[in-house]
Formats: sequence, C-alpha cells, structure tokens
Amino acid sequence: MPDAAAATAATKKALVAELSCQFEAAGLPQPNDDARTLVCGLLNISLTDLVLDRGEPLNPAQTERVRSAAARRLRREPVHRILGSRSFFGLDLELSPETLEPRPDTETLVSAVLPFVRALAVERGRCRVLDIGTGSGAVCLALLAEVGSATGTGTDISREALGTARDNARRAGLSERFDTCEAAWFAGVEGVFDLIVSNPPYIPSGDIAGLEPEVRDFDPVIALDGGADGLDAYRAIAVGADVHLAPGGRVAVETGFSQHAAVTGIFEANRFPCIDGVKDLAGNDRVLIFAKPG
Ligand SMILES: C[S@@+](CC[C@H](N)C(=O)[O-])C[C@H]1O[C@@H](n2cnc3c(N)ncnc32)[C@H](O)[C@@H]1O
Repeated sequence: MPDAAAATAATKKALVAELSCQFEAAGLPQPNDDARTLVCGLLNISLTDLVLDRGEPLNPAQTERVRSAAARRLRREPVHRILGSRSFFGLDLELSPETLEPRPDTETLVSAVLPFVRALAVERGRCRVLDIGTGSGAVCLALLAEVGSATGTGTDISREALGTARDNARRAGLSERFDTCEAAWFAGVEGVFDLIVSNPPYIPSGDIAGLEPEVRDFDPVIALDGGADGLDAYRAIAVGADVHLAPGGRVAVETGFSQHAAVTGIFEANRFPCIDGVKDLAGNDRVLIFAKPG
C-alpha cells in the first residue's frame, strides 16, 4: 500500500472509498457494494453506522484487517467467504470451504414451498422435510425457522458440510428439530417425509471452467458439477424419491434457468406430475414442484 493511501485511509469512509477504487480498477462488478459490505462486516457496524460515521480514526489493526480482506477480494474471493458468513432468509449462516455460499435465488425455493409446509403444520401438526445436498443447511433451516412444528433432515455427500449445517442449526436454535445424514442421494437415508427439497449441483461439467472465478475457484466443485448435461442429480432424486415421500407429498427442486423442460420430463417419467414452476426475482425459471398423488 503506498504511503499516501495509508496516511489517508484511516477512517471508515476513507477505507470504503479506497477499496471501492481498487475494486473498480480491477473490474469487479459491484465495487461500491463490496467495499461497504467488507468494511461494515469486518468492523461489525451497520450501514447506518457507516453513513453516520463522523470520521473517527480507525486503529492500525482495524485498517490492516480491512486491507488484507481487500487483497483477498482482489484475488476474486467472494465477500461473504471473506467474512465467513452470509444472510439467507433472515438467518445468519456460517460458511466453510466445503459449503456452497447460499444464493439469493435459492430463497425462491424456500418461498415456493413455505405455504405447503405451513399448511401441513396447521393440518397435521408437523411437516417432515428432507433437504438433499443441504450444504450450509440453508434451505432446511430457513423452513424450520419459519414453521415451528416442522422437522428436517439435511443430507450431503460432504461430511464437512454437514458439520457446518449442524453448527448453523445450533446458532439458529434449531438443533432439536434438525438432524443430518451423510448420504449420496438417498443411499442410507431412512424414513418417510412430507417434503423433499433440493438445490442440487446442476452445472454441466463442461461449463465449470468458464464460470466466474468467485464461483469456480471458491465454491466446492461437488456443489456445482451436475454431470455431463447438468441433470444427474435430478435423475437420482426422481428415481429415489417415491420410497421416501408420503402420499400427497411434494418434491421441490431448484434448477438452472434453462432446465425446466428437461427436469420436468425426468420427474414426469418417474410419475411425479409437475404442479408448479416458479421464477426467481430476475424473472428466470428457478424452481419446480412435483406432487406424489395422495
Ligand atoms: C448447489 S449445493 C446446495 C447447497 C445448499 N442446499 C444451498 O442451497 O445453499 C449442492 C450440495 O449437494 C451436495 N452433493 C453433491 N453431490 C451429492 C450427492 N451425490 N448426494 C448428496 N449430496 C450431494 C454438495 O456437497 C452440496 O452441498
């Protein structure tokens, strides 16, 4: 860091300006947002605190912490990986190298199935959720946080990811209603559920090298790679779901924006009629819901 910048970057706002400038020069897509999120997250202040800051000088350790984080961002590490956590459907979720960073698009999946979970909880006093490929636990924990009588099992092929999911359940006070199962798709899963939900890996293997560095270099490849055509997980879930789904139950999956027709075909070939398709906030196809006849 040149001396001049070091001398002027001693306040929160000056650091935001410094980072924003560096990020813009490096061609990062959201330089201002990233700079503000990093400074606020690392200094544990809100955006309002930042706006109202009257220019108190930061100590050298704080300044150094922000500048080291900026260096990581310039190497394309995502902001929330640097901070170690991110917000998802109102929950603050810890991330680890083995977990996908939950995306805002996946909140569409939670919103899409919430009415079903709520209705079942009212009607029967419970709703049993199986979240396949739970990662940080995002989808299942968001549902349990919203519906107090719902219970959930998160599965994953990654033991380390399941550890993070359990930590997140503890942090959210949901441990008593959440358990985990290390499993490749349904292998080793026991029991019957009312809802099977999944945001599985769905990127075609050949597309992974061309992803943005934030995704390609920092999300675990097993969380991304959906096989040659990106659809391997849907085939496995469609074939295995029947045994673990109660009559009248639902299977809800997140998909890539161009996969709705193919995924619908896979589930309908396994006798799961499609009952809904939901777009994300950007207007892209994102979620499909299938029903098991009751
Ligand atoms: C796209 S990530 C989704 C993570 C989390 N549900 C979310 O929405 O943020 C897919 C997850 O599936 C897991 N996974 C990959 N292959 C699997 C398999 N064969 N069986 C179970 N889980 C698998 C990955 O480890 C990863 O956690």
